[in-house]
Amino acid sequence: MDGQLTFLGIESSCDDTGAAIVRHQPGKAAEILSNVVASQTELHAAFGGVVPEIAARAHVEKLDLMIEAALMQAGLQLADVDGIAVTAGPGLIGGVLAGVMAAKGLAAATGLPLVGVNHLAGHALTPRLTDALCFPYLMLLVSGGHCQFLRVEGADSFSRLGGTIDDAPGEAFDKTAKLLGLPQPGGPSVEAEARRGDAARFAFPRPLLDRPGCDLSFSGLKTALMRARDGVVAEKGGLTRADRADLCAGFQVAVRDVLAEKSRRALLACPGISGFAVAGGVAANQSLRAALENVAAQAGVAFLAPPLALCTDNAAMIAFAGMERFREGARDDLTLSARPRWPLDNKAPALIGSGKRGAKA
Ligand code: KG4
Ligand code: ZN
Repeated sequence: MDGQLTFLGIESSCDDTGAAIVRHQPGKAAEILSNVVASQTELHAAFGGVVPEIAARAHVEKLDLMIEAALMQAGLQLADVDGIAVTAGPGLIGGVLAGVMAAKGLAAATGLPLVGVNHLAGHALTPRLTDALCFPYLMLLVSGGHCQFLRVEGADSFSRLGGTIDDAPGEAFDKTAKLLGLPQPGGPSVEAEARRGDAARFAFPRPLLDRPGCDLSFSGLKTALMRARDGVVAEKGGLTRADRADLCAGFQVAVRDVLAEKSRRALLACPGISGFAVAGGVAANQSLRAALENVAAQAGVAFLAPPLALCTDNAAMIAFAGMERFREGARDDLTLSARPRWPLDNKAPALIGSGKRGAKA
Protein backbone atom coordinates (compact mmCIF):
# COMPACT_ATOMS: atom_id res chain seq x y z
CA MET A 1 0.00 0.00 0.00
CA ASP A 2 2.51 2.62 -1.15
CA GLY A 3 0.29 4.81 -3.30
CA GLN A 4 -1.78 7.86 -2.58
CA LEU A 5 -4.90 7.31 -0.50
CA THR A 6 -7.92 9.52 0.15
CA PHE A 7 -10.04 8.66 3.19
CA LEU A 8 -13.28 9.87 4.70
CA GLY A 9 -13.02 10.10 8.51
CA ILE A 10 -15.97 10.11 10.91
CA GLU A 11 -15.81 11.10 14.61
CA SER A 12 -18.67 11.03 17.14
CA SER A 13 -17.25 9.63 20.38
CA CYS A 14 -18.03 12.56 22.69
CA ASP A 15 -19.70 15.91 22.00
CA ASP A 16 -18.30 16.80 18.57
CA THR A 17 -19.73 15.41 15.32
CA GLY A 18 -16.90 15.49 12.81
CA ALA A 19 -16.26 14.45 9.22
CA ALA A 20 -13.11 15.00 7.17
CA ILE A 21 -11.39 14.08 3.94
CA VAL A 22 -7.63 13.51 4.13
CA ARG A 23 -5.26 12.61 1.30
CA HIS A 24 -1.87 11.10 1.92
CA GLN A 25 1.03 9.83 -0.08
CA PRO A 26 3.80 8.10 1.88
CA GLY A 27 6.85 10.34 2.24
CA LYS A 28 4.80 13.49 1.65
CA ALA A 29 2.85 15.78 4.00
CA ALA A 30 -0.78 14.76 4.41
CA GLU A 31 -3.37 17.07 2.87
CA ILE A 32 -6.52 17.85 4.85
CA LEU A 33 -9.03 18.49 2.06
CA SER A 34 -11.81 19.23 4.54
CA ASN A 35 -12.37 18.94 8.28
CA VAL A 36 -15.80 19.95 9.56
CA VAL A 37 -17.14 19.66 13.07
CA ALA A 38 -20.49 20.40 14.72
CA SER A 39 -19.98 21.09 18.41
CA GLN A 40 -22.68 20.21 20.94
CA THR A 41 -21.35 22.53 23.67
CA GLU A 42 -24.54 24.63 23.71
CA LEU A 43 -26.82 21.57 23.93
CA HIS A 44 -25.11 20.40 27.12
CA ALA A 45 -24.43 23.83 28.66
CA ALA A 46 -27.42 23.78 31.00
CA PHE A 47 -26.40 20.40 32.46
CA GLY A 48 -22.82 21.19 33.49
CA GLY A 49 -21.48 18.18 31.54
CA VAL A 50 -22.08 16.02 28.50
CA VAL A 51 -25.43 14.16 28.68
CA PRO A 52 -24.90 10.88 26.77
CA GLU A 53 -28.48 10.55 25.46
CA ILE A 54 -28.59 14.11 24.18
CA ALA A 55 -25.14 13.62 22.61
CA ALA A 56 -26.15 10.43 20.80
CA ARG A 57 -29.32 11.97 19.38
CA ALA A 58 -27.45 15.06 18.19
CA HIS A 59 -24.83 12.88 16.48
CA VAL A 60 -27.56 10.97 14.63
CA GLU A 61 -29.02 14.29 13.45
CA LYS A 62 -25.72 15.78 12.35
CA LEU A 63 -23.66 12.89 10.94
CA ASP A 64 -25.12 12.88 7.41
CA LEU A 65 -24.88 16.66 7.19
CA MET A 66 -21.26 16.69 8.30
CA ILE A 67 -20.28 13.90 5.89
CA GLU A 68 -21.99 15.74 3.04
CA ALA A 69 -20.28 19.01 4.02
CA ALA A 70 -16.86 17.33 4.21
CA LEU A 71 -17.27 15.84 0.73
CA MET A 72 -18.56 19.10 -0.70
CA GLN A 73 -15.73 21.20 0.78
CA ALA A 74 -13.20 18.72 -0.59
CA GLY A 75 -14.92 18.88 -3.99
CA LEU A 76 -15.27 15.10 -4.01
CA GLN A 77 -17.92 12.43 -4.13
CA LEU A 78 -17.96 9.17 -2.22
CA ALA A 79 -16.82 7.39 -5.37
CA ASP A 80 -13.57 9.42 -5.23
CA VAL A 81 -12.47 8.15 -1.81
CA ASP A 82 -10.53 4.96 -1.16
CA GLY A 83 -11.93 4.08 2.24
CA ILE A 84 -13.95 5.06 5.28
CA ALA A 85 -12.42 5.38 8.75
CA VAL A 86 -14.65 5.71 11.78
CA THR A 87 -14.07 6.07 15.51
CA ALA A 88 -15.17 2.71 16.95
CA GLY A 89 -14.30 3.61 20.59
CA PRO A 90 -13.52 4.42 23.32
CA GLY A 91 -16.20 6.96 24.16
CA LEU A 92 -19.85 7.48 24.98
CA ILE A 93 -21.39 4.38 23.48
CA GLY A 94 -24.47 6.02 21.91
CA GLY A 95 -22.33 8.46 19.96
CA VAL A 96 -19.77 5.86 18.90
CA LEU A 97 -22.60 3.61 17.74
CA ALA A 98 -24.15 6.41 15.69
CA GLY A 99 -20.84 6.96 13.87
CA VAL A 100 -20.16 3.26 13.33
CA MET A 101 -23.68 2.72 11.93
CA ALA A 102 -23.30 5.69 9.56
CA ALA A 103 -19.93 4.38 8.34
CA LYS A 104 -21.27 0.83 7.89
CA GLY A 105 -24.23 2.15 5.90
CA LEU A 106 -21.90 4.04 3.55
CA ALA A 107 -19.51 1.09 3.23
CA ALA A 108 -22.36 -1.31 2.49
CA ALA A 109 -23.87 1.03 -0.11
CA THR A 110 -20.59 1.84 -1.91
CA GLY A 111 -18.46 -1.23 -1.34
CA LEU A 112 -15.69 0.97 0.05
CA PRO A 113 -13.31 -0.54 2.63
CA LEU A 114 -14.13 0.21 6.27
CA VAL A 115 -11.56 0.73 9.04
CA GLY A 116 -12.52 1.12 12.70
CA VAL A 117 -10.19 3.50 14.52
CA ASN A 118 -9.40 3.85 18.21
CA HIS A 119 -10.13 7.49 19.07
CA LEU A 120 -7.00 7.67 21.22
CA ALA A 121 -4.90 6.36 18.33
CA GLY A 122 -6.33 9.22 16.27
CA HIS A 123 -4.96 11.71 18.81
CA ALA A 124 -1.71 9.80 19.24
CA LEU A 125 -0.97 9.69 15.49
CA THR A 126 -1.75 13.38 14.90
CA PRO A 127 1.94 14.45 14.94
CA ARG A 128 2.41 12.18 11.91
CA LEU A 129 -0.50 13.88 10.16
CA THR A 130 0.80 17.39 10.91
CA ASP A 131 4.58 16.90 10.94
CA ALA A 132 5.26 13.43 9.50
CA LEU A 133 6.95 12.59 12.82
CA CYS A 134 8.78 9.23 12.70
CA PHE A 135 8.15 6.35 15.13
CA PRO A 136 8.92 5.99 17.97
CA TYR A 137 7.89 9.15 19.81
CA LEU A 138 6.43 10.12 23.17
CA MET A 139 2.86 11.44 23.29
CA LEU A 140 1.13 13.19 26.18
CA LEU A 141 -2.60 13.07 25.61
CA VAL A 142 -4.38 15.61 27.83
CA SER A 143 -8.08 16.27 27.27
CA GLY A 144 -11.41 16.43 29.04
CA GLY A 145 -11.65 12.64 29.06
CA HIS A 146 -8.09 11.37 28.87
CA CYS A 147 -4.65 11.78 30.31
CA GLN A 148 -1.86 9.39 29.44
CA PHE A 149 1.74 9.10 28.35
CA LEU A 150 2.19 6.83 25.34
CA ARG A 151 5.30 5.63 23.59
CA VAL A 152 4.02 5.47 20.02
CA GLU A 153 5.87 2.73 18.17
CA GLY A 154 3.59 2.12 15.18
CA ALA A 155 0.10 2.84 13.85
CA ASP A 156 -1.16 0.02 16.03
CA SER A 157 1.59 -0.23 18.61
CA PHE A 158 1.53 1.81 21.80
CA SER A 159 3.08 1.42 25.24
CA ARG A 160 1.45 3.33 28.06
CA LEU A 161 3.93 4.72 30.54
CA GLY A 162 1.31 6.14 32.88
CA GLY A 163 -1.99 7.91 33.09
CA THR A 164 -4.52 9.47 35.43
CA ILE A 165 -5.93 7.28 38.14
CA ASP A 166 -9.03 9.46 38.51
CA ASP A 167 -10.04 12.66 36.68
CA ALA A 168 -8.58 13.94 33.43
CA PRO A 169 -6.99 17.41 33.64
CA GLY A 170 -9.63 18.97 31.35
CA GLU A 171 -12.29 17.67 33.70
CA ALA A 172 -10.44 19.30 36.61
CA PHE A 173 -10.32 22.62 34.72
CA ASP A 174 -14.06 22.32 33.98
CA LYS A 175 -14.91 21.54 37.61
CA THR A 176 -12.74 24.40 38.82
CA ALA A 177 -14.62 26.79 36.54
CA LYS A 178 -17.92 25.44 37.84
CA LEU A 179 -16.84 25.87 41.48
CA LEU A 180 -15.82 29.47 40.79
CA GLY A 181 -18.86 30.39 38.69
CA LEU A 182 -16.87 30.74 35.46
CA PRO A 183 -18.23 29.72 32.03
CA GLN A 184 -17.74 26.29 30.41
CA PRO A 185 -15.60 24.89 28.93
CA GLY A 186 -13.52 25.61 32.00
CA GLY A 187 -10.03 25.44 30.49
CA PRO A 188 -10.08 28.70 28.55
CA SER A 189 -11.95 30.64 31.27
CA VAL A 190 -9.66 29.41 34.07
CA GLU A 191 -6.60 30.23 31.93
CA ALA A 192 -7.90 33.75 31.23
CA GLU A 193 -8.53 34.41 34.95
CA ALA A 194 -5.17 32.89 35.91
CA ARG A 195 -3.33 35.51 33.82
CA ARG A 196 -4.36 38.17 36.32
CA GLY A 197 -3.80 36.02 39.41
CA ASP A 198 -1.10 35.42 41.99
CA ALA A 199 -0.21 31.71 41.81
CA ALA A 200 1.63 31.85 45.15
CA ARG A 201 -1.34 32.95 47.29
CA PHE A 202 -2.89 29.49 47.69
CA ALA A 203 -0.75 26.42 48.28
CA PHE A 204 -2.25 23.61 46.19
CA PRO A 205 -0.94 20.03 46.35
CA ARG A 206 1.12 18.43 43.56
CA PRO A 207 -0.59 14.98 43.55
CA LEU A 208 1.52 11.82 43.11
CA LEU A 209 4.83 13.67 42.70
CA ASP A 210 6.01 11.86 45.82
CA ARG A 211 5.53 8.53 44.06
CA PRO A 212 7.78 7.18 41.32
CA GLY A 213 6.47 6.68 37.80
CA CYS A 214 4.24 8.58 35.41
CA ASP A 215 0.76 8.07 36.87
CA LEU A 216 -1.23 11.20 37.64
CA SER A 217 -4.18 12.23 39.80
CA PHE A 218 -6.30 15.38 39.59
CA SER A 219 -9.34 14.79 41.79
CA GLY A 220 -7.54 15.88 45.00
CA LEU A 221 -6.67 19.20 43.39
CA LYS A 222 -10.34 19.87 42.78
CA THR A 223 -11.09 19.17 46.46
CA ALA A 224 -8.21 21.45 47.53
CA LEU A 225 -9.60 24.21 45.33
CA MET A 226 -13.06 23.80 46.84
CA ARG A 227 -11.62 24.04 50.37
CA ALA A 228 -9.61 27.15 49.48
CA ARG A 229 -12.70 28.73 47.92
CA ASP A 230 -14.84 27.87 50.97
CA GLY A 231 -12.14 29.33 53.25
CA VAL A 232 -12.25 32.68 51.44
CA VAL A 233 -16.07 32.69 51.37
CA ALA A 234 -16.23 31.92 55.12
CA GLU A 235 -13.79 34.74 55.86
CA LYS A 236 -15.13 37.45 53.54
CA GLY A 237 -18.66 36.35 52.71
CA GLY A 238 -17.87 35.93 49.00
CA LEU A 239 -15.24 35.89 46.28
CA THR A 240 -13.78 39.00 44.68
CA ARG A 241 -12.46 39.00 41.12
CA ALA A 242 -8.92 38.95 42.55
CA ASP A 243 -9.72 35.92 44.76
CA ARG A 244 -11.00 34.06 41.70
CA ALA A 245 -7.95 34.97 39.68
CA ASP A 246 -5.59 33.84 42.47
CA LEU A 247 -7.44 30.53 42.86
CA CYS A 248 -7.27 29.92 39.09
CA ALA A 249 -3.59 30.82 38.95
CA GLY A 250 -2.71 28.52 41.85
CA PHE A 251 -4.71 25.64 40.36
CA GLN A 252 -3.24 26.05 36.86
CA VAL A 253 0.33 26.15 38.15
CA ALA A 254 -0.28 22.97 40.16
CA VAL A 255 -1.60 21.12 37.07
CA ARG A 256 1.27 22.49 34.99
CA ASP A 257 3.93 21.49 37.53
CA VAL A 258 2.61 17.94 37.84
CA LEU A 259 2.36 17.43 34.07
CA ALA A 260 5.81 18.93 33.52
CA GLU A 261 7.50 16.75 36.15
CA LYS A 262 5.76 13.58 34.95
CA SER A 263 6.74 14.49 31.35
CA ARG A 264 10.36 14.82 32.48
CA ARG A 265 10.16 11.31 33.94
CA ALA A 266 8.41 9.91 30.85
CA LEU A 267 11.15 11.37 28.63
CA LEU A 268 13.81 9.74 30.82
CA ALA A 269 12.01 6.42 30.39
CA CYS A 270 11.91 6.81 26.58
CA PRO A 271 15.41 6.96 25.11
CA GLY A 272 15.82 7.09 21.33
CA ILE A 273 12.57 8.84 20.48
CA SER A 274 12.16 11.27 17.58
CA GLY A 275 10.10 13.81 19.52
CA PHE A 276 7.74 14.66 22.37
CA ALA A 277 4.23 15.57 21.19
CA VAL A 278 1.16 16.75 23.01
CA ALA A 279 -2.51 16.51 21.97
CA GLY A 280 -5.98 17.00 23.47
CA GLY A 281 -7.89 20.15 24.40
CA VAL A 282 -5.78 20.93 27.49
CA ALA A 283 -2.75 21.21 25.18
CA ALA A 284 -4.24 24.59 24.23
CA ASN A 285 -3.10 25.93 27.61
CA GLN A 286 -0.25 28.35 26.93
CA SER A 287 1.34 28.02 30.34
CA LEU A 288 1.34 24.22 30.02
CA ARG A 289 2.70 24.31 26.48
CA ALA A 290 5.58 26.56 27.57
CA ALA A 291 6.42 24.26 30.50
CA LEU A 292 6.38 21.13 28.32
CA GLU A 293 8.48 22.82 25.65
CA ASN A 294 11.00 23.65 28.35
CA VAL A 295 11.08 20.06 29.65
CA ALA A 296 11.60 18.76 26.09
CA ALA A 297 14.41 21.27 25.46
CA GLN A 298 16.15 20.19 28.66
CA ALA A 299 15.94 16.57 27.50
CA GLY A 300 17.25 17.58 24.06
CA VAL A 301 14.09 16.32 22.33
CA ALA A 302 11.98 18.12 19.69
CA PHE A 303 8.59 19.35 21.00
CA LEU A 304 5.50 19.22 18.81
CA ALA A 305 2.10 20.71 19.55
CA PRO A 306 -0.40 20.40 16.67
CA PRO A 307 -2.60 23.40 15.82
CA LEU A 308 -5.56 23.61 18.19
CA ALA A 309 -8.18 22.39 15.69
CA LEU A 310 -6.20 19.15 15.40
CA CYS A 311 -5.51 18.91 19.16
CA THR A 312 -9.19 18.74 20.03
CA ASP A 313 -11.61 16.10 18.75
CA ASN A 314 -11.76 16.08 14.96
CA ALA A 315 -12.31 13.65 12.09
CA ALA A 316 -9.11 14.45 10.16
CA MET A 317 -7.11 12.54 12.77
CA ILE A 318 -9.50 9.60 12.38
CA ALA A 319 -9.20 9.61 8.57
CA PHE A 320 -5.40 9.71 8.87
CA ALA A 321 -5.19 7.00 11.54
CA GLY A 322 -7.53 4.87 9.41
CA MET A 323 -5.19 5.24 6.43
CA GLU A 324 -2.18 4.31 8.53
CA ARG A 325 -3.94 1.16 9.71
CA PHE A 326 -5.26 0.41 6.21
CA ARG A 327 -1.70 0.54 4.83
CA GLU A 328 -0.78 -2.05 7.45
CA GLY A 329 -3.57 -4.30 6.18
CA ALA A 330 -6.33 -3.50 8.68
CA ARG A 331 -9.85 -4.04 7.29
CA ASP A 332 -13.18 -4.17 9.09
CA ASP A 333 -16.53 -5.39 7.88
CA LEU A 334 -20.14 -5.00 8.91
CA THR A 335 -19.43 -6.88 12.15
CA LEU A 336 -17.36 -3.89 13.41
CA SER A 337 -18.63 -3.10 16.89
CA ALA A 338 -18.66 0.10 18.95
CA ARG A 339 -16.54 -0.16 22.10
CA PRO A 340 -17.07 2.08 25.14
CA ARG A 341 -13.67 0.98 26.48
CA TRP A 342 -10.69 0.27 24.27
CA PRO A 343 -7.24 0.62 25.81
CA LEU A 344 -4.46 1.37 23.33
CA ASP A 345 -2.00 -0.69 25.29
CA ASN A 346 -3.47 -4.08 26.19
CA LYS A 347 -0.41 -5.01 28.25
CA ALA A 348 -0.81 -2.07 30.66
CA PRO A 349 -3.10 -2.50 33.68
CA ALA A 350 -6.51 -0.82 33.36
CA LEU A 351 -6.67 2.75 34.59
CA ILE A 352 -9.13 3.29 37.40
CA GLY A 353 -11.95 5.81 37.23
CA SER A 354 -14.64 6.91 34.88
CA GLY A 355 -15.24 10.61 34.39
CA LYS A 356 -18.22 12.51 33.06
CA ARG A 357 -16.88 12.05 29.54
CA GLY A 358 -17.10 8.29 29.71
CA ALA A 359 -14.90 5.39 30.61
CA LYS A 360 -11.17 5.96 30.70
CA ALA A 361 -9.13 3.72 28.49
O1 KG4 B 1 -9.88 17.25 23.47
P1 KG4 B 1 -11.11 18.00 23.86
O2 KG4 B 1 -11.66 19.03 22.92
O3 KG4 B 1 -12.31 17.05 24.15
C1 KG4 B 1 -12.21 15.87 24.87
O4 KG4 B 1 -12.16 15.96 26.10
O5 KG4 B 1 -12.14 14.80 24.23
O6 KG4 B 1 -10.77 18.67 25.27
C2 KG4 B 1 -11.69 19.49 25.95
C3 KG4 B 1 -11.10 19.84 27.28
C4 KG4 B 1 -12.08 20.56 28.18
O7 KG4 B 1 -12.10 19.94 29.44
C5 KG4 B 1 -11.52 21.97 28.25
O8 KG4 B 1 -11.80 22.63 29.48
C6 KG4 B 1 -10.04 21.73 28.08
O9 KG4 B 1 -9.96 20.69 27.12
N1 KG4 B 1 -9.36 22.93 27.59
C7 KG4 B 1 -8.39 23.56 28.27
C8 KG4 B 1 -8.06 24.73 27.52
N2 KG4 B 1 -8.83 24.73 26.39
C9 KG4 B 1 -9.62 23.61 26.45
N3 KG4 B 1 -7.81 23.28 29.45
C10 KG4 B 1 -6.87 24.14 29.90
N4 KG4 B 1 -6.51 25.27 29.24
C11 KG4 B 1 -7.08 25.60 28.06
N5 KG4 B 1 -6.73 26.72 27.42
ZN1 ZN C 1 -10.44 13.17 22.15
